[in-house]
Amino acid sequence: MTTLRTDAFLALKADSEKLKHVPLRRLFDENPQRAEQFSIQLEGLFFDYSKNHLTSKTIELFKRFANACCLPEEIDNLFLGKYVNNTEQRPALHTALRHQGDATTTEQELATGTLIKMQSCVKKIHAQEWLGYSQQPINTVVNIGIGGSDLGPRMVTQALSAYQTWQGHVEFVANIDGADLSDVLLGANPETTLFITASKSFTTPETLANTAAAKAWLVDSGCETGMLEHHFIAITANVPAAQAIGVSAENIFPIWDWVGGRYSLWSAIGLPVAISIGMDNFTDLLSGANMMDEHYRHTPIENNVPIMAGLCEFWYNQFWGVQSHAVLPYAQRLTRLPAYLQQLDMESLGKSVTRDGVNIDYPTGTVAWGTEGSNGQHSFHQLLHQGKHIIPVDFILVSQSMSHLDKHHQYLQACCISQSQALLQGKTLHEATKELEALGVSPKEVLRLAPHKVVVGNKPSNTIILRQLNPRNLGALLAFYEHKVHTQSVLLDINPFDQWGVELGKQLATPILEALESGQTDHRWDGSTQYLISKLS
Ligand code: F6P
Repeated sequence: MTTLRTDAFLALKADSEKLKHVPLRRLFDENPQRAEQFSIQLEGLFFDYSKNHLTSKTIELFKRFANACCLPEEIDNLFLGKYVNNTEQRPALHTALRHQGDATTTEQELATGTLIKMQSCVKKIHAQEWLGYSQQPINTVVNIGIGGSDLGPRMVTQALSAYQTWQGHVEFVANIDGADLSDVLLGANPETTLFITASKSFTTPETLANTAAAKAWLVDSGCETGMLEHHFIAITANVPAAQAIGVSAENIFPIWDWVGGRYSLWSAIGLPVAISIGMDNFTDLLSGANMMDEHYRHTPIENNVPIMAGLCEFWYNQFWGVQSHAVLPYAQRLTRLPAYLQQLDMESLGKSVTRDGVNIDYPTGTVAWGTEGSNGQHSFHQLLHQGKHIIPVDFILVSQSMSHLDKHHQYLQACCISQSQALLQGKTLHEATKELEALGVSPKEVLRLAPHKVVVGNKPSNTIILRQLNPRNLGALLAFYEHKVHTQSVLLDINPFDQWGVELGKQLATPILEALESGQTDHRWDGSTQYLISKLS
């Protein structure tokens, strides 16, 4: 077993015990400058963490603990390409993919070369020079991939739909449920559809099965085998496997073992995004992420947005019994952001042993969840306000309207700010009573109803404001979340770049599939598994 009980950790714990008796309302009353003091303005992105249970003393203790965990050294190790993914003996160099300026490392050179290859592909598709088997230009691109080979490109394509420069459609298929692929193919024309098989390993069963079905769909519709290569691109680190299913060498885009699946949006895995919004916008996305990289690497702890956000989450997770956090983007086009962050956060931080493989006796990652505002308000916000849980929230707002309906936008902003205000202030019994009395409710009814109207408040939240939902600011936002996860992993002493837990389910699926296919069920399984299989046979 290992514990985090260093002196710096114990000092933080002691501070949290004191702060549990100090309501957030009081912190704001006592310090009128609090919002300004505990917020950070970067280019295009503002981060307000003032509605957290912390004081200047906590920040000092945060710094002490972060330094005790060697966070600055670990950040250097990440950027320098040290083997931070120690179970797979490799670096995690997604930052090299968005490096700006001349390449100075092999990884940066490889990334630049791939961007050039992506550029010529995008150009060909946009110029209607990429032709299908009947010599018609491609007008639909279907990305087949799952996890990191799906969530990032899918989310960003939607988020940046206002920047679309291609007239065609970009679709995404991930699930092994055949309904996913068939629903997309229903609206597609085989003669003008190009598939991208995105799979770093090129062994993921869902992706291979969907690719095989897409191939069959083309053949069934009259595409000759020799013409299939005009309909498939592969993005992979396993080139032989892509070639083995017939993808031509020139249609294979590389990624490398130093890019983790959930950190791969910035590589050729982002090709669907580049096709949709064009290469210039895609490079703006990279430049925004690079801006956040530079900030993360070179800014002192107390002014460092990802570090402060990571420390806050660690703080609640260790000392306040918090098990989940909500991400609530008040931007319709960021609907898929929570799903993207679930993989980034939970696949990275859901670990039970330290980097050295020692069992852990403290909580690690928290559950990430959420949906777009204001829809969530009419659904689960009730629990945020009156439930007994503490669920820290990230509110994400955009200053500039995302439609021509400016009044809608102001209302959206008002919804967001009022939610964070309600979480902070709540409503006391006295306030609830006064409110009912003002409505002329009888004294007996006031007594009966007032307790139901009490909102405890005192619930923490961050507010992130993007000046505009554009490629550069989105790149910065996503890199912020990546680095926040990195900070947490260092504080927790875990490897955020492997995902061995996912493998178990994959291993177990194979014999179950065999049993379902053959109908032969011997008694290799536990009683529950056996029974469920028998129900389906
Ligand atoms: O779900 C596990 C996982 O390995 C993810 O980390 C990864 O993003 C996903 O599968 C897809 O993997 P691949 O790109 O190799 O198909």
